[in-house]
Amino acid sequence: TAQQNGCPVSDPAAMARDFDAFQGAYQVDPAEALRWSRDQLPVFYAPKLGYWVVTRYDDIKAVFRDNILFSPKNVLEKITPATDAAMTVLKSYGYAMNRTMVNEDEPAHMERRRVLMGHFLPENLEKQQEMVRRLTRQKVDEFIDSGRVDLVEAMLYEVPLLVALHFLGVPEDEIETLRTFSLAHSVNTWGKPSDEKQVEVAHDVGRFWQYAGQVIERMREEKDGQGWMHHTIRMNAEMPDVVTDSYVHSMMMAIIVAAHETTSLASTNMFKTLLAHRDAWEDICSDPSLIPNAVEECLRYAGSIMAWRRQTTAATTLNGVDLPEGAKLLIVQASGNQDERHFEDGDSFDIYRDNAVDHLTFGYGAHQCMGKNIGRMEMRIFLEEMTRRLPHLKLAEQDYSYLPNTSFRGPDHLWVEWDTAHTPEKILS
Ligand code: HEM
Repeated sequence: TAQQNGCPVSDPAAMARDFDAFQGAYQVDPAEALRWSRDQLPVFYAPKLGYWVVTRYDDIKAVFRDNILFSPKNVLEKITPATDAAMTVLKSYGYAMNRTMVNEDEPAHMERRRVLMGHFLPENLEKQQEMVRRLTRQKVDEFIDSGRVDLVEAMLYEVPLLVALHFLGVPEDEIETLRTFSLAHSVNTWGKPSDEKQVEVAHDVGRFWQYAGQVIERMREEKDGQGWMHHTIRMNAEMPDVVTDSYVHSMMMAIIVAAHETTSLASTNMFKTLLAHRDAWEDICSDPSLIPNAVEECLRYAGSIMAWRRQTTAATTLNGVDLPEGAKLLIVQASGNQDERHFEDGDSFDIYRDNAVDHLTFGYGAHQCMGKNIGRMEMRIFLEEMTRRLPHLKLAEQDYSYLPNTSFRGPDHLWVEWDTAHTPEKILS
């Protein structure tokens, strides 16, 4: 196309006017879909969405950096406003999702983050490592002789979910229910459901809200329970003004998606990307020390969070564009991550890239992902186990499907296959 040849698109104003975050090019390849914007109109208003879209690396980083001028208060807002019917349903469940961590303003945010940071420190993540490895090995044992599997169903959905629940200290008894719930929460917050679908989703979101409340009640009974949400519940008793009741309930619902969907999708994107770049896959199979940087490059090139939100608290300018107070911003990390102003040949995949770790997939600044090292560790262990036991893994022929939404990205399924006669441990045994 003209764009790929580096020719400017003829009418950036028309591209801005027609920008659709829920279908078409953005859903196919968000970074490529916004190349015209990075080159010609890096901050633009998208009337269909009602948001200002920010697509260059430096601008996105500047927005993340100033969480006072660019408040995160709209991060968990329904991007498609609720219909009256959906609102009535949500109310009937007493739904009152409010501030968590990711959408909290200062100074409340930092006070809370400080009190709740301990569990995320590297020395406290050691314990999780063994669990990730054990669960991963179990899953691989289950499918290694089959020759063909959907990696999402077979491993990448469930392992991050179990790790998340264990880290949080949340009972692991309703995995299938949680799957329906997290999907509903994602569609509700970042998707564009039809009016009918809004009502259906509202019921699931309402049930999720009530379920979260019940889990908290059960956890309160367990006085010396382990895990981050148990710690949160104890801090709520000790410092109710910092770790408020509303926070605990909202967070219980949000964190399951934050800790789990993000990691499952990122891991799925990682296998898809590496298997499609055979040289890179073979390199990490023969030299596992390349894995950590390969993980960063996958997070850069095909991260699971493609865009995040902010809202201005005063009129300002961004890269020369005037923004009014209250302007809603969609900051597209997937675009910034391939911006050649920061990443040389940004649209090519290179596991040897020396600044891959600069990617914006975990956000940046005061709100940067608290769980980033858990996500990274899971992705690293998945690769360590799979490259060792299934180096002959290949992508199967398939069409990929994605949940249409502004922010969470990863295929619903990932079919892979291999010749079981060539499985190394078979040959050795
Ligand atoms: C915040 C992405 C895994 C917990 C965030 C943010 C992003 C993100 C984009 C907002 C950052 C900002 O505003 O600057 C991801 C990705 C993950 C991942 C891509 C996996 C690959 C996890 C895990 C956990 C977690 C495993 C918990 C166990 C959190 C929390 C915040 C957060 C608590 C709020 C931090 C704050 O506002 O201070 N994450 N996340 N995340 N994430 Fe993650």
